[in-house]
Amino acid sequence: MQVARRIEEVRNEISQLAETTPTAQELMPAMVKLLHDRMLKYNWVGFYMLEPGAQPPMLVLGAFEGAMTPHTRIPLHQGICGAAASSGQTVVVDDVNKDPRYLACSLETKSEIVVPVFAHGKVVGELDIDSHFPAAFTPEHQAFVQHCAMLVGKKLEASGN
Ligand code: SME
Repeated sequence: MQVARRIEEVRNEISQLAETTPTAQELMPAMVKLLHDRMLKYNWVGFYMLEPGAQPPMLVLGAFEGAMTPHTRIPLHQGICGAAASSGQTVVVDDVNKDPRYLACSLETKSEIVVPVFAHGKVVGELDIDSHFPAAFTPEHQAFVQHCAMLVGKKLEASGN
């Protein structure tokens, strides 16, 4: 199946999921499962959320699908994850082995995308996806993953949790 068609199909499924799921706490595990099951190159999919009130700020592993990662708590100055959360910008890395910021989760990972989740204008967490394929996250994937992260932010704003 063509990538654009697959993305469109899964985008519709995710949008439907967001409409029928009352809270972000329920949406996040369902979303990572759907992305992991349906997007063939999304080999690890998970959320890191900012720990409320933590000083210094800390990203904590939330719902995820894929192999267990040693990185369950990531400070903002570490990793691709820290870079995305501290800048509030999506980070796409085509070859993780060439990026000195990269914290390894699996030896098989070749590329990664991290998209911040915003609620009420502030970064509250992020959606992190690893691929066993180099340069898996083309601009069309980037737009799709940003849409997913946005749905979680909106749900957090609407439901408060
Ligand atoms: N690779 C991430 C760490 C998280 S694991 O990939 C699940 C990073 O460099 O921040």
